[in-house]
Amino acid sequence: METHETSSERPVERQLHVTNEGCLSELTKGRCPVNFPVAVVLPAAGSGERTGLSTPKQFCKIIGRPLISYTIHAFERVFWIDNVVVVVAKESHDLMTDIIHKYNHTKVKIVEGGSTRHRSIFNGLLAFSEQGVGSKLQKPKVVIIHDAVRPFIEEDFLLKITLAANKQGASGAVRPLVSTVVAATAGGYLDHSLERARYKASEMPQGFIYDIIYKAYQHCSEAEFEFGTECLELARQHCGTSAVLIEGPSSLWKVTYQRDLTSAEAVIKESVSQSACIITGECAETQNLSTWMKNGLMAEGMWVDAVPNIEQGMSRSTNRNFIKLSVNSPKSVEIGEFMKMCEETKDGLYPFVILWVHLNVLDQASFSQENDEASVIMTLAENAQKRNIFLSCVRVRYSKDSSERERRMNKLCQMTVALIRDRNAAFSGQILYA
Ligand code: CTP
Ligand code: MG
Repeated sequence: METHETSSERPVERQLHVTNEGCLSELTKGRCPVNFPVAVVLPAAGSGERTGLSTPKQFCKIIGRPLISYTIHAFERVFWIDNVVVVVAKESHDLMTDIIHKYNHTKVKIVEGGSTRHRSIFNGLLAFSEQGVGSKLQKPKVVIIHDAVRPFIEEDFLLKITLAANKQGASGAVRPLVSTVVAATAGGYLDHSLERARYKASEMPQGFIYDIIYKAYQHCSEAEFEFGTECLELARQHCGTSAVLIEGPSSLWKVTYQRDLTSAEAVIKESVSQSACIITGECAETQNLSTWMKNGLMAEGMWVDAVPNIEQGMSRSTNRNFIKLSVNSPKSVEIGEFMKMCEETKDGLYPFVILWVHLNVLDQASFSQENDEASVIMTLAENAQKRNIFLSCVRVRYSKDSSERERRMNKLCQMTVALIRDRNAAFSGQILYA
């Protein structure tokens, strides 16, 4: 995992597809080089044996959301992609339908999978063909094939794959080999090894002129359907199309083992924890507190903006972490309105963290007041969590003693960093004390 740098410059975004919408979409609107229909086939009918889990990995949850939903979102947000065909096992059809509704996926068509990955992919391709069953989708010029279990795919790389496929007939992502490939004899001894620099690991996505890959699958032998692993090879064997190989980013890795699910979660958490926005309010106390927090959080490697009001905070498009400062008890209406704006302005792919920091300058809150506040926060947080927003509250008692004040401020910064980085739903609705 990369280390954070403390800098006064906003860090270059290395946010995977965590930004609100595809950055390239914004840049290329109106002059998009993709002027032909493009569709995607996502094979997702495997059982994920190597994870050792009973749930197929594509349906395992990562920060509360099924893995496949992240992958679908990565394609759906690309405006030049028309359809996403998701190929799932028959028994997962209802689950997939629920996911589509729950996460508001709009470009997806579900197709039934086959007993091997190649059979599943072919079933996906049939969704665009007269020979397929059920309603037919518009045939694309280029089809992108991508494993449902590779959630980190960015628009700029999809563009490279798509344009290369359109030009050459086929294209595929590759990565340098991590280890040398060796061939073993039947008895388990070294037969020979391959020269590592000459070989590459074939990854996904791959792009094809639809007619080429469709024809390749039509000519596929039973043995290829059963044991083959490489779509690019099918295009070469059956259509004489040599694919362009394009080196892709390391984020293209495939979730294969159980630990990869943990890594995927860590990647997402890291990328959404890089920045935060402090809503300072107008009073001197909260502005002082803001300066302190900003310095403290930046020392922890976070980029921090401080703005006077919520509206300005919302316009920071990539922020998913908000720290609202208030003096004395926050009003529930105020918190409710803030969360409503959050929901309306942002997509709910990744959870938001809202931290309401309540600076208690008067030190007069009664026990019953605190109890009332706790139940208000709890109720608001319960509702917010359904919409992927985590709300916690930190109370800081103001101290006249400067070393005690410093101790409390440091604690506040530590708690803030922990809440933002961990994004742990268990702390949603909780009031903490610094
Ligand atoms: N896949 C598919 N149909 C199959 C087998 C696999 O659509 N009959 C899909 C998987 O769901 C996955 C992708 O192909 O999205 C890559 O396959 P792999 O990583 O091998 O997934 P699984 O086959 O599910 O895992 P395992 O090999 O560990 O059982
Ligand atoms: Mg498999």
